[in-house]
Amino acid sequence: MTPKCISRFLSACCFAIMVTGSAMAQPAKPFEPYSGQPGKDVVWVPSPQALVDRMLDMAKVTPRDYLVDLGSGDGRTVITAAKRGVTALGVEFNPDMVALSRKNAAEAGVTGKATIVHGDIFKTDFTKADVVTMFLLSSLNLRLRPTLLDMRPGTRVVSNTFDMGEWLPDEMISAGGECSSFCSAMLWIVPAKVAGTWQMGKAELTLEQSFQMLEGRMNAAPISKAKMLGPQIAFTAGDKTYAGRVTGDRMAGTASDGSKWQATRR
Ligand SMILES: C[S@@+](CC[C@H](N)C(=O)[O-])C[C@H]1O[C@@H](n2cnc3c(N)ncnc32)[C@H](O)[C@@H]1O
Repeated sequence: MTPKCISRFLSACCFAIMVTGSAMAQPAKPFEPYSGQPGKDVVWVPSPQALVDRMLDMAKVTPRDYLVDLGSGDGRTVITAAKRGVTALGVEFNPDMVALSRKNAAEAGVTGKATIVHGDIFKTDFTKADVVTMFLLSSLNLRLRPTLLDMRPGTRVVSNTFDMGEWLPDEMISAGGECSSFCSAMLWIVPAKVAGTWQMGKAELTLEQSFQMLEGRMNAAPISKAKMLGPQIAFTAGDKTYAGRVTGDRMAGTASDGSKWQATRR
């Protein structure tokens, strides 16, 4: 090899090392989610922020609440709740979304109130929540429904867009304004379980229950306008309307004529 060849060879080697070195020195591209990104059971599409705000309003969240967002994505619902003083947990299957949402929570200064766990919503116990939020699919809501219905009466469940089949919502809202897609939400209040026979003074109250809707009889006479809202019961029997609260095997309240009433499960 002539000196000229050796010099060219060395220059080429230096160039190759520089190119490789500079490529290695490039910082890894930060993860950026995209709408429609595949997820385990449902893709990621972010809830519009205006709707997140309205969902939390509809659930009447307070700092005493523990909220769980099932499939928490970039953490926006958890973070928004935490900013309102709520203790909030997000459950998310995609580890990149978990890392992103933890970073978002840190940037929002709410790491003390907002926690994101990496997990599968179908394998994570969320039954201690006072408020459950979700933006999944109706088919997934139906899989979660038995668990939700077994939660403490009064638990608020809010879903972006997707329903719960025959369990009709207690309230519906839409984000309005400039929201253009996935702009409506529904609220369900987990009803107390009251089906069966109750002794109400000298009368027998028999109740049949389908989610929050009730039918039944007081002695032989059918009751009407009978409904649960969480632990609250209301029904009309004869010319009186009864409103009360259910606590386990006892319910008590006030009738429309001002008299107090109570019933115990038989
Ligand atoms: C439509 S996005 C909603 C994100 C967020 N809750 C919001 O409202 O902006 C659904 C999220 O659920 C996550 N996901 C899908 N299947 C899941 C599962 N089995 N367990 C936990 N997360 C899941 C997806 O990765 C995605 O981030």
